Amino acid sequence: MHLPRSKEEIARMFSGMRFYEVRNFVFSFGQNLVWRRYLIREAEGRLLDVATGEGNVLRLYKRGLGVGVDISLGMLKRAGRGLLLLQGDAENLPLKSGVFDTVSVAFGFRNLPDKPLALREFNRVLRTGGKLLILDMNLGKDAFSLLQMPYPAVLMPVLAPLLLGGFRDYVYLFRSMLEFPSSESLKVMLREAGFEMERVYRFHIGSTYLYVARKVGRP
Ligand SMILES: C[S@@+](CC[C@H](N)C(=O)[O-])C[C@H]1O[C@@H](n2cnc3c(N)ncnc32)[C@H](O)[C@@H]1O
Repeated sequence: MHLPRSKEEIARMFSGMRFYEVRNFVFSFGQNLVWRRYLIREAEGRLLDVATGEGNVLRLYKRGLGVGVDISLGMLKRAGRGLLLLQGDAENLPLKSGVFDTVSVAFGFRNLPDKPLALREFNRVLRTGGKLLILDMNLGKDAFSLLQMPYPAVLMPVLAPLLLGGFRDYVYLFRSMLEFPSSESLKVMLREAGFEMERVYRFHIGSTYLYVARKVGRP
């Protein structure tokens, strides 16, 4: 089975994805809605929501203060009306420097092939002192996290297609979870890109994290 690796393949996979938010709801036991609310509570001022998809983060934020960017036209089309949306690549944002107070990425960071480059882009568009919020699924490297492994590794890819289709999407999801940097590596990556990690929220017995960082300088 060929899993998407290039940006074009990843964009195509998301553009063709059916029942995106329904699947999230079912397989996170409704927690996806709660986690995004934690992210929104941390956001301040002008918000750029990267990998915005169907606009599920933006819709929770103050009207007129948020902009969303995503590489997949299909996802953006499904976002509907009333949101400010742009098609673009997180690693080469089509936006001016220093204009946002917050950059958020919900369940999108793990899709980015060059994460240090994306972090430098987030730094560029943020004002100094601005916030970076990364919400994503991750697998810890401790024994407890290994015990959870059968859920994303076996149960989701097998059960999800029976309900809503998309076996390959779940194998891709599991691979991207395995490749996600550990909290410690992410902290180092953030520092190299000009951020300081402020807080980490750990959700759902350590399957999902919200990282809160602040821009302290340039990379
Ligand atoms: C799992 S969805 C998350 C959508 C949304 N943030 C949410 O909370 O539902 C991941 C999104 O990342 C987008 N994406 C993947 N690679 C990207 C890139 N290089 N630049 C911008 N968006 C990207 C996909 O198109 C997809 O919409």
